[in-house]
Amino acid sequence: MKIAFIGMGNMAQALARGFIKADLLQGKDMTAFAPNQDKLRQNAAAIGFVPCGEPKVAIREAEIVFAACKPYQMEKVFAPLKSALKGKTLVSVASGWTFAKLHELLGDEVQLQYILPNTPAAVCKGVTIVESAHSVSAERRREVFALLAGVGQVVELPANIMSAASSVTGCGPAFAAMIIEGLADGAVKNGVPRAQAYELVAGMLIGAASLQLETGMHPGVLKDGVCSPGGTTIKGVAALEEAGLRAALIRAVDASLN
Ligand SMILES: NC(=O)c1ccc[n+]([C@@H]2O[C@H](COP(=O)([O-])OP(=O)(O)OC[C@H]3O[C@@H](n4cnc5c(N)ncnc54)[C@H](OP(=O)(O)O)[C@@H]3O)[C@@H](O)[C@H]2O)c1
Repeated sequence: MKIAFIGMGNMAQALARGFIKADLLQGKDMTAFAPNQDKLRQNAAAIGFVPCGEPKVAIREAEIVFAACKPYQMEKVFAPLKSALKGKTLVSVASGWTFAKLHELLGDEVQLQYILPNTPAAVCKGVTIVESAHSVSAERRREVFALLAGVGQVVELPANIMSAASSVTGCGPAFAAMIIEGLADGAVKNGVPRAQAYELVAGMLIGAASLQLETGMHPGVLKDGVCSPGGTTIKGVAALEEAGLRAALIRAVDASLN
C-alpha cells in the first residue's frame, strides 16, 4: 500500500514513525508534501519517508492520503486537489473537519474519513478516534483501521462527541507530560536524579493506566487500594485534593474544548 501525507508536522510525523515501527509500511511507501522543503527533507532523512515538492506529486501513487495541515488551511490546500484525489481515500486528521464538512468540500468522488489520532502513535501507543460517518469502501476502511490499529487503540465515535473525546486523547499527551514533569520535580526535590525521576514516573503511569485498562476497575477503587489508613499515600492524596487536581484537570478539558 502507498500512502501520502499533505502536511508533515508533529501529527503526521508521529503516524509515519508509528507505521514504520509497527512494520506496517516502509519509508519508501510513504510520500509527503509540506511547504518548508528544507524542514521536510530533514524530517524525511530522520524518518525515512519520500519528500515531494508538490502536493500532486505526493498523492500520485497513493491509495490513502492523510490530510495533516492545520484545520484553517484545509479548503485552500484540498480544493485544488479534488480531481487528483478522485477514487482515492482522504483520511483527514484536521480537527473539526468532520465527514460532513469534507463532503461539502470534496463531494462523492473522493472516499472520505475523519479521524483524530494522537502523538503517542509514534511509539505505537496512540489512541485514534474514527468518525462513524464516512464514504470509504468496506475493504479500504479495513485497511485504514489496520493501519491505525498498528499504532494503538482505535475507537469509533459519532461526530458530535469527537471534539470532546479528543480534548482528552489529542490534548491529553500534553497534560500527561506536565504530570510527568511535576511528579519528577517532586522526586528531584527530594534527591532522585532527574533522568531516573522521569524513568520512574513514566513507568509508574504506564503501570497505573494499564492496571485500570486491563481490570476495568473504578479509579477510586484503585486509589483506595494504595491508601492505607494514616499512611503516606493518603497524605499525598489529601495534598492533591487541597491543590484542586481534579478540578484543574476538568477545567483543562473544558478549556481545550472551548
Ligand atoms: N498534534 C496533535 O497531537 C494532533 C492531534 C490530532 C489532530 N491533529 C491535527 O493535525 C493537524 C496538524 O497538526 P500538527 O500538530 O501536526 O501541526 P504542525 O506540526 O504545525 O504541522 C502542520 C503541517 O502543515 C503544513 N502546511 C502548512 N501549510 C501548508 C500547505 N499550504 N499545504 C500543505 N501543508 C501545509 C506544515 O508545513 P511547514 O512546516 O512546511 O509549514 C506542517 O507540516 C491539525 O489539523 C490538527 O488539528 C493534531
